Amino acid sequence: MAILVTGGAGYIGSHTCVELLNRGDEVIIIDNLVNSKVEAVRRVEKITGKKVKFYENDLLDRAAVEKIFEENKIDVVIHFAGLKAVGESVSIPLRYYHNNITSTLILCEVMAKYGCKKIVFSSSATVYGMSNKAPFSEDMPVGGTTNPYGTTKLMIEQILRDLYISDNEWSIVLLRYFNPIGAHPCGLIGEDPNGIPNNLLPYVARVAAGKLPIVHVFGNDYDTPDGTGVRDYIHVCDLADGHLKAVDKAMSCTGVNTYNLGTGNGYSVLDVIKAFSKACGKDVPYQIDPRRPGDIGTCYADASKAKRELGWEAKYNLDDMCAHSWNFTKNNPNGL
Ligand code: NAD
Ligand code: UD1
Repeated sequence: MAILVTGGAGYIGSHTCVELLNRGDEVIIIDNLVNSKVEAVRRVEKITGKKVKFYENDLLDRAAVEKIFEENKIDVVIHFAGLKAVGESVSIPLRYYHNNITSTLILCEVMAKYGCKKIVFSSSATVYGMSNKAPFSEDMPVGGTTNPYGTTKLMIEQILRDLYISDNEWSIVLLRYFNPIGAHPCGLIGEDPNGIPNNLLPYVARVAAGKLPIVHVFGNDYDTPDGTGVRDYIHVCDLADGHLKAVDKAMSCTGVNTYNLGTGNGYSVLDVIKAFSKACGKDVPYQIDPRRPGDIGTCYADASKAKRELGWEAKYNLDDMCAHSWNFTKNNPNGL
């Protein structure tokens, strides 16, 4: 099966490409490298011993996207490409709306033109907004996102649903990720954000590596066991495996299917710092700071639908996630 992976040089995309190649799929990547490096693609090839067809192009470049469909008979698309920095999306919203939404419109138009109507989309638990209560299940109302990044996910989900209503030949799988962390156990690929990380795990890893002085814990007055925010951290390789199941689903039927990809377990910020300290063999220093605007106290998945319908569930635990994340950080002190 030939799979076009948009954003395949990125964090989740590169791990998913490894799993696709390992099971014998043909992988074609389009990525403009705005938040990744071509080295990630080379490492995917090194891990799997297989070749990837890489197009360094922007999805906003319709002619380039058409050329890919001209040159390859694509069976299904996994659409990871997008900008994802929450804070940046508040300061430059138009860039986020344009990049994430316009690129999806162009992609779907080109797909339809070439008769490829199967897509797996990277959505986020952020679509559950501020008013639902965990565990979040797929049938809960969505909306009330707190930043333009989250709103692009909400809008793209709706655009894809409308697309299916207009043309029932489409097969659309919406995957709502919880908090992907960790790295491939071999230590060759992992999360390599540009600049100072916004997310907890890469921040903790940089403190552990001595590149940042201290972890700032955003609030300890939430209604959670230790007062710090609780999240559903999921190993990126488990997440990657979920995409294989989602591709199979997309190939087997038409319609719109939505799945949470999470473990169903919640861990606090202090749990994570403790587990990471264990993984790296030293105490990671932290201080308690005020809450971060837009954060909720508790977010974890009801992961039962993916288990029931896709036969998928997460296997790695928090200690594995931290150990693999540290293994990547240690082996790649300057990133990829
Ligand atoms: P990432 O930034 O590592 O990967 C995204 C990739 O898309 C990058 O390689 C980037 O260069 C590429 N890209 C962006 N805009 C592009 C464009 N216009 N044309 C071509 N390539 C483009 O991010 P990730 O963590 O791997 O996330 C993948 C997807 O999953 C994103 O859509 C993200 O919003 C979504 N998601 C991520 C998380 C998370 O915590 N990492 C959580 C929920 C959802
Ligand atoms: C954030 C985004 C979400 C996005 C997801 C993946 C916000 C409000 N939400 O989710 O839209 O889909 O990333 O990109 O930004 N924390 C600290 N110190 C830090 C960093 C985080 O204490 O330096 C805490 C947070 O308050 C939270 C937890 O750690 O309780 C996880 O934070 P983070 O990794 O940023 O993920 P989310 O906030 O869940």
